[in-house]
Amino acid sequence: MTNETVLEALKNVTYPGFTKDIVAFGFVKDVVIEGANISLTVEITSSADEVKQQIIQEATIELKKLGFSDIAVNIKAPEAPRQMSNSISGKNIAPHVKNFVMVSSGKGGVGKSTTSVNLAIAMAMQGKKVGLLDADIYGPNIPRMMGVADQRPEIQGNKVLPLKAYGVEIMSMGSLMEPGQSLIWRGAMIMKAIEQFLRDILWSELDVLVIDMPPGTGDAQLTLAQSVPVTAGITVTTPQEVSLDDSRRSLDMFQKLHIPTAGIIENMSGFICPSCKTESDIFGMGTTEPVAREYDTELIARIPIEPAVRIGGDTGMPVVYHKPDSETAKRYQEAASKLLSFIDKVNAQGGVSNEAIQPTTPAGVSACSTQAAPKEETSGGSCKTGCGCN
Ligand SMILES: Nc1ncnc2c1ncn2[C@@H]1O[C@H](COP(=O)(O)OP(=O)(O)OP(=O)(O)O)[C@@H](O)[C@H]1O
Ligand SMILES: [Mg+2]
Repeated sequence: MTNETVLEALKNVTYPGFTKDIVAFGFVKDVVIEGANISLTVEITSSADEVKQQIIQEATIELKKLGFSDIAVNIKAPEAPRQMSNSISGKNIAPHVKNFVMVSSGKGGVGKSTTSVNLAIAMAMQGKKVGLLDADIYGPNIPRMMGVADQRPEIQGNKVLPLKAYGVEIMSMGSLMEPGQSLIWRGAMIMKAIEQFLRDILWSELDVLVIDMPPGTGDAQLTLAQSVPVTAGITVTTPQEVSLDDSRRSLDMFQKLHIPTAGIIENMSGFICPSCKTESDIFGMGTTEPVAREYDTELIARIPIEPAVRIGGDTGMPVVYHKPDSETAKRYQEAASKLLSFIDKVNAQGGVSNEAIQPTTPAGVSACSTQAAPKEETSGGSCKTGCGCN
């Protein structure tokens, strides 16, 4: 019996919540074989007991099949879990936040804000300290969706205290402006605003800050990725091919910005009719999985169109909190667990650094703006900055 045979067998043990196995993730260490005895270590940082138990149980079954009788599967955290994402090299202007999650999409109106709200609350319900930053400066929807549209934040010196609802700290341009006001800003001002949201808001020591992005791939995304190390990116899409085309751009952006992709949320995937509770296909379903595979990531949830989701957004009573028994709420909770496991995994493997994507343009000038980029790069498509310029 060789180590290779053992590793081959352990490829049947998937990391809970993912389609990849524990060998592919590189979690299996220190395999020692002595006759019918085997011991090995699986190095994960997930604190969830059920994750540990499931791995032990499934690995034991596989090893028994190989004929081992004395089996020791030890689960342990990597020794000195290397620096967390917030302390690694690169730039971090909000070091008291442990992990940043960027919720993005190529297309508008696919459900980024709805996803951000429900994922943030789900993680808070699972015991994490969570913040929700609305980085959609032109179209801030988070205050209404979180039920804090009438509240104004308290100012402390030259800093601002976040609002709080459903156990989540919140900040949005919508909370700083009069209702219905519009902003007509250049890219450089958007960049400044994003930086201030990270630097001048008195966020607590958060486990996770979820950041709801404006649609597309531009200044806001690039500035965020350059200002803080983003631990995980989530792309939201609807199942139609036209939306998927745009989601590829979003996934490509994560890669260019060195943001580990936690996965895709297929939103408006089927319709749950409130009277009959059956699920029917409207925009198509299951179209997202091949795209996930293309980008070596996962489909982390399929969220159906459910009137309660829209009503929850409009009334500031998010479905995950107010209708916890609904199918949609359960799927958001599951997606939140997968996201937390993914964050654990990224940190276990050394965290993230944004050193490689620091700006080469002068401060305050957008790398995407036509002023900053050389002529030939602005004439068509990418400006090679990873920001997908016009
Ligand atoms: N699964 C769903 N079921 C029913 N309604 C939904 C669902 N997801 C989103 N909606 C509704 O669709 C509308 C658009 O969603 P949302 O504002 O979250 O999209 P967005 O991607 O953030 O849009 P934008 O690009 O404008 O920021 C909202 O009214 C929301 O309540
Ligand atoms: Mg939005």
